[in-house]
Amino acid sequence: MSSASPLEIATDLFNTVDFNKKSLLISASAIVFNPTFWNIVARREYRTRFLTRAFGGAQAACYALAVTIFSLGLVRDFLYERALRDQPSHPLMVGDVPTYAAYALLALGNTLVISSTLRLGITGTFLGDYCGILMDSMVTGFPFNITSAPMYWGSTMNFLGSALLYGKPAGLLLTILVYVVYLVAIQFENPFTAGIYAKREKERAQTAGREGKKEL
Ligand SMILES: *[C@@H]1O[C@H](CO)[C@@H](O)[C@H](O)[C@H]1NC(C)=O
Repeated sequence: MSSASPLEIATDLFNTVDFNKKSLLISASAIVFNPTFWNIVARREYRTRFLTRAFGGAQAACYALAVTIFSLGLVRDFLYERALRDQPSHPLMVGDVPTYAAYALLALGNTLVISSTLRLGITGTFLGDYCGILMDSMVTGFPFNITSAPMYWGSTMNFLGSALLYGKPAGLLLTILVYVVYLVAIQFENPFTAGIYAKREKERAQTAGREGKKEL
């Protein structure tokens, strides 16, 4: 066996990707579209309450948003799988080792995604705070004691696991895209959410101040 450098291996994997397949571009578009969509819609809801008004309540608005985001996720996963099927595999990614690594990644990824959904609940998972449904306190238990964004990293692991399961270098490329998109989303979402909670704390402090005065 020749000893190829990591760069040579990466180049070889990259050259295996068939960029002429439309499904690759479609899958990449869906990966970029989803977080863009939910951030735009959720921020608009926060500013204007257009969903709360349309659905006659914050709870209903949040559930509608949840169903939409979840469905878009299913579509994105479907398009990813279809893109992988259209792509050539690479010998380095086929065999027992990649397959076992794929199962491990999928198990870990799904554990992170499912446990964080259970921990946060539907409204906590799907941007409820933008609809005015705030959590009482910060969630700190598993999986949030491992990572602050278990949903995103779990999802990234699932993409990587599927790429390995199919043995497709195009899946690695799309996984890198998922990773970058989530990194950007976190940079964008975390300060905004922190702002929502800071505002609530300020209002709580003011209310407590008023009630303190009443007792005097
Ligand atoms: C996170 O919490 C789980 C269960 O509550 C625990 O088993 C695990 O050791 C914790 N991990 C870390 C890194 O603290």
